[in-house]
Amino acid sequence: MKEKMINNLEARFKEVFQSSSTTQYFSPGRVNLIGEHVDYNGGHVLPCAITQGTMGLVRLRDDMTVNCISDNFDELGVISFDLDQELIFDKQDNWTNYVKGMIKFVREAGHTVDQGFDLLIYGDIPNGAGLSSSASLELLIGVILESEFNLDLERLDLVKIGQRVENDFIGLNTGIMDQFAIGMGKKDHAIYLDVNTLDYTLVPAEFGDNVILIMNTNKRRELADSKYNQRRSECEAALEELQTELNIQTLGDLSNEAFDANTGLLSNETYLKRSRHAVYENTRTQEAVELLKANQLEEFGQLLNQSHISLRDDYEVTGAELDALVEAAWDQKGVLGARMTGAGMGGCAIALVNKEAVEEAINQIGQRYKDQIGYDASFYVAEVGDGAKKL
Ligand code: GLA
Repeated sequence: MKEKMINNLEARFKEVFQSSSTTQYFSPGRVNLIGEHVDYNGGHVLPCAITQGTMGLVRLRDDMTVNCISDNFDELGVISFDLDQELIFDKQDNWTNYVKGMIKFVREAGHTVDQGFDLLIYGDIPNGAGLSSSASLELLIGVILESEFNLDLERLDLVKIGQRVENDFIGLNTGIMDQFAIGMGKKDHAIYLDVNTLDYTLVPAEFGDNVILIMNTNKRRELADSKYNQRRSECEAALEELQTELNIQTLGDLSNEAFDANTGLLSNETYLKRSRHAVYENTRTQEAVELLKANQLEEFGQLLNQSHISLRDDYEVTGAELDALVEAAWDQKGVLGARMTGAGMGGCAIALVNKEAVEEAINQIGQRYKDQIGYDASFYVAEVGDGAKKL
């Protein structure tokens, strides 16, 4: 499959740039198993890189021009910019803003990028589906720059630069989870990350007779962006109120019990609900990783369900489409648990499903979703793959 894809892309590269590419790269998407909306609240997350992602074909040029084309957005044609000019965000430049942002911040970190290149990309993760197509692109450009310009970069540097592009170039105040999962991913492993210390362990993503089914609402989550920053500010405000009495640095420092004992410090229901999600979800994630290691998948599945309920009722980032998919999955035989994944408000959900029951689950959930929402959902069985790399 990948082989065929590369051959087709190579042909396209030649057609557009009149010569072959010299190097090919791949950067994955990710699913987050549990630990949602905690990465900017100081807690634990459990994402994994998936084998779907973004391919990049490259050839260095003799001048300072960067030419970019995406096989997903053919209608945009080649978008070009000049490395001698200041690299600034321009809405019209569409996805190539991520390319510009990465080059800008890699340079600001003291590295030299002094030659243009031709770039063709193609992604098989749906855009805006909550599988991190943007972090996938950031890390793709990161590994391209690292390798093409022989840069002396730690993987963590690239991860942080990717997050900085999101925060300071694109303007979305995301945490570090996506870039971390995509930069550090390892085949068949989930990443258990403490976002306060950035310490992490690789946990075998072994689900016995079950698979992770990705369920795409096919509702893009772009509108989510303003809500994302809003949730982040609400949590920051809640933290400040809690800090008037409690000696904590982040919401992730609180146990459920300590939180419950101090809710009187919060001035309104919204702050209470948002911060309760952050605290409880962090606790759930710490429990979930132990259950996964102990192969207690039924209980692990229960935590996925609780996570969704908390994101629906307390964090309020699910929406009709995600709820329809997840609630249909809960009723389905062979499903151990299901929840939204990623930022929410559209995008994807995941379900832990018995292998034998997958086909029937897809049919049933798909039908119920269509009846309720009016259009089709899409389904893919997730394969857990490696982080961003040169091929
Ligand atoms: C997006 C962000 C991540 C994280 C998730 C929610 O994917 O990029 O940093 O906050 O939402 O868990």
